[in-house]
Amino acid sequence: MKTIENISRMSTFVKMMKKEGKSISLVPTMGYLHEGHLSLVKAAKKHTDVVIMSIFINPIQFGPKEDFEKYPRDLKRDEEMAREAGVDVIFYPSLKDMYPEGYATYVTVEKLTGNLCGESRPEHFRGVATVVTKLFNIVKPEVAYFGQKDMQQAMMVKKMASDLNMGVEVKMMPVVREKDGLAMSSRNIYLSDAERRDAAVLYQSLKNAEMLVKNGERDARKVTKAVEDMIKSKQSARIEYVKLVDAGELSDVKMITGEIALAVAVFFGETRLIDNTTIMVK
Ligand code: PAF
Repeated sequence: MKTIENISRMSTFVKMMKKEGKSISLVPTMGYLHEGHLSLVKAAKKHTDVVIMSIFINPIQFGPKEDFEKYPRDLKRDEEMAREAGVDVIFYPSLKDMYPEGYATYVTVEKLTGNLCGESRPEHFRGVATVVTKLFNIVKPEVAYFGQKDMQQAMMVKKMASDLNMGVEVKMMPVVREKDGLAMSSRNIYLSDAERRDAAVLYQSLKNAEMLVKNGERDARKVTKAVEDMIKSKQSARIEYVKLVDAGELSDVKMITGEIALAVAVFFGETRLIDNTTIMVK
């Protein structure tokens, strides 16, 4: 495995691979890897000759009061985990290389980004769309892998790749969870012991909601209320949103029918976590 730290060297490597007829997949990350990222690598390895993982903490997707500065960073640890998982190349560009002085171009996806996380993080998806476009242009992958924990992000990137004819197949892979159901996230490291225990309620509340729907509940408000009540029973929890949305458009639903997604964003102490599940009702 090699680590390439600059864009022009990455481009040279990509050209060489294409010349040799090799297919390329990209696993975009911000580092501080966990099993969720590694599951994407595993999937990527099955489908392409070369797996490139980008590690870049993208400042333009963080709000001014968010955790860009303290986002966990440990390249050595990431390199070991990536090597073990079979990554061929880590792409680790610098901030200056990605956003040189005078940088002025941004990508906005006008659907799918207004609801859920888009409400409280208005600049977030523009930052993600921009950096992912840049990564796609540099790495030129045939396939790119995203996790379902960030469902809205994965759906937005899929839409962007299709709308802009990027020629990249965007795959969304299932959420990987800890033993107690907490979705893996680099941000879980911020949680205190008590917050970490409380955070397991997210998965429990999603499962409970699935059960309510399975047992016939179709009123979205009743289901979201049940989820909210469970989450509120935990001392360190503060709900940002609990929403039932159409799984295609991500718009709010009142009645549960067809394919819907239940999505939650909750602070445990200072740490904002998200999770979701999709439910199919015939
Ligand atoms: O999900 C993430 O880690 C980031 O949003 C991504 C896709 C790497 C873009 O910075």
